Amino acid sequence: MSCDTLSSTAPDGPDQKEPRLCARGVRVRYGGTVALEGVDLIVRDGESVAIMGPSGSGKSTLLHSMAGIISPDEGTVTLRTREGVRELGGLSDAARSAVRLREYGFVFQQGMLIPELTAAENVAMPLLLAGGRKSVAIARADLLLRELGLAGLEGRRIGQLSGGQAQRVAIARARATDAHVVFADEPTGALDSRTASEVLDVLLAGTTAQGRALVMVTHDEDVASRCSRVVRLKDGRIVDSPTR
Ligand SMILES: Nc1ncnc2c1ncn2[C@@H]1O[C@H](COP(=O)(O)OP(=O)(O)OP(=O)(O)O)[C@@H](O)[C@H]1O
Ligand SMILES: [Mg+2]
Repeated sequence: MSCDTLSSTAPDGPDQKEPRLCARGVRVRYGGTVALEGVDLIVRDGESVAIMGPSGSGKSTLLHSMAGIISPDEGTVTLRTREGVRELGGLSDAARSAVRLREYGFVFQQGMLIPELTAAENVAMPLLLAGGRKSVAIARADLLLRELGLAGLEGRRIGQLSGGQAQRVAIARARATDAHVVFADEPTGALDSRTASEVLDVLLAGTTAQGRALVMVTHDEDVASRCSRVVRLKDGRIVDSPTR
């Protein structure tokens, strides 16, 4: 397996989508605890990767490493950005934040939405942070919210929405900047199974169906079975995943 393919424009083979994101030899320690013990993973455009494994096996740590939220102690995370191939560890904090904002979207279990803001303002936030005009950002937010079945709720604050509705807002926000990779950490964990399935429909429709990649931590085998690939972690290592 190599991250070099990120540099070339051609996919590996006729059936392969382009590699977008590559983790190589990623090792993360928290004091005496080794959370990741050298993980290799390539994520391609249009692919949905479910990360599974027992509690404490390193799933969130892997997600956060690939997302540039934490910096691995060893190894590299390489991303094909709009400006070219970048190794996240080689960037300044400001440059890494800019890459996160432009290239990535995030959906977490608790949504990490801002409760004081309306649904539309939350969705518009990444566009405003990227320097967009407020009227344009709100118009795009309204469009995304309508696409996700939330027409009429644009002006509601997050606390006035159900869990499933709030997750749709989080998905709309993750889509606002047309991110290449959307990261989700147990996005359906707090939802009943029917709502979870609907939220997953929306998440897949907004990512893989549009050629974008989805990297999702889940404990739910039903959710994972709808992804194109399942990666299982145990004690900070990948077990029984096809290496690519
Ligand atoms: N900030 C931290 N400080 C110290 N140890 C940490 C920290 N974050 C995670 N760990 C440890 O690293 C290991 C991996 O944690 P991680 O959060 O990645 O697990 P996880 O697979 O996401 O678990 P869960 O399913 O419970 O969310 C665990 O042993 C955990 O206790
Ligand atoms: Mg976790």
